Amino acid sequence: MHAAANRYAFRDKVGDYARLASELASLIGTEQDPIARAANTAALIFAALPEINWAGFYFLRNGELVVGPFQGKPACTRIAIGKGVCGTAAAQRETLVVPDVQEFPGHIACDSDSRSEIVVPLLLGGAILGVLDIDSPRPARFDLLDARGLEQLAAVFLSDLRPSWL
Ligand code: SME
Repeated sequence: MHAAANRYAFRDKVGDYARLASELASLIGTEQDPIARAANTAALIFAALPEINWAGFYFLRNGELVVGPFQGKPACTRIAIGKGVCGTAAAQRETLVVPDVQEFPGHIACDSDSRSEIVVPLLLGGAILGVLDIDSPRPARFDLLDARGLEQLAAVFLSDLRPSWL
């Protein structure tokens, strides 16, 4: 049984993301079930990060992003590659930091509370598996340190994962 997730102050973002990454590594361990891994990753992020209202996964299925384990309000089920923040990050294979979602052309509003968003593509062996998506009710909630920190968490989620499950 794992202890309750810590909530971090994120005054020291680099240090707190490093601590959260090691907490995540110990939480998911060598578990190979993708749903178990993704569910606990989303839950840990949602519990640990201040000022967020949605944290979770979209996975690539037959050329489209399909919602996976998440925490937050119900979300849109499918997103085409190239559409919205998630589909754009997947197409560009780069982390996207969106300070104001209302200014992002084609943003898909799942929760009307969301004002800013960050999406980290999940790449394994050169293939895109999906994205990790975090929303915040505060404009400009995410910066480059969040991008690097969440990429670190995505790397822990992907580490030792067998790609055959997707
Ligand atoms: N806003 C996202 C859709 C997913 S929700 O935020 C959970 C987008 O534009 O791709």
